[in-house]
Amino acid sequence: MAEYEDKVLHELDGIKEYDNPLPGWLMAIWWGALIFGALYLGFYALSFGENSMDSEYRAETANAVAGVQAYFDANPLVPPNAAELLAGVKDPVVLEKGAVRFEKSCAPCHGAQAQGLIGPNLTDDRWIHGGQVEQVFQSISKGWPAKGMPPWGRALPPDELSALVSYVRSLQGSNPPKPKPAEGDPFTPEPIPGS
Ligand code: HEC
Repeated sequence: MAEYEDKVLHELDGIKEYDNPLPGWLMAIWWGALIFGALYLGFYALSFGENSMDSEYRAETANAVAGVQAYFDANPLVPPNAAELLAGVKDPVVLEKGAVRFEKSCAPCHGAQAQGLIGPNLTDDRWIHGGQVEQVFQSISKGWPAKGMPPWGRALPPDELSALVSYVRSLQGSNPPKPKPAEGDPFTPEPIPGS
């Protein structure tokens, strides 16, 4: 390092501090990183208009929403016919499917035995929105969002929606312990064929 010996800044007890420049390769990395960083920030984070990250994100979101809407338009929520829903009340496979889904999605609000908690008791003979299987299907699939009953029609597959209706219907008159006081009007639902 002979060429730098004239640039000694300090010397103490024979230990010298030199004022040597940084090696060229290190400076190249430094400037390179700085320029790359500035360009990157400009191109991606701060850019506006058509090619910005923001508009790319918006375009992709709009595309996804349009796709979902197209799916719903092509697959409208058709209530299954009442006979099918009533037949499910007698079908252990259907009831089991309904019970499994009920425990996961409905019990937190209606109680494990549908005795009522936040939501009304579903086992008594009073209904706020009607107890015919088709009405129950509407209550479950469209919900009563303003009253705190979520719509399940788009969240659950059709076979589970139907199984829930049959399951709820099968709980009529089951008299669970600690029922929530009845709400709604007395209602005589259609008979279940074969019982
Ligand atoms: C977040 C709480 C909540 C969840 C979860 C919930 N419900 Fe409800 N449900 C309610 C409330 C609150 C009402 C009462 C709506 C009203 O007063 O109009 C209700 C009403 C209903 C009704 C109409 C009752 C009537 O008397 O007409 C049915 C049927 C029903 N729920 C079934 C279900 C099923 C099946 C599930 C599960 C898929 C479910 N609910 C999940 C809160 C909930």
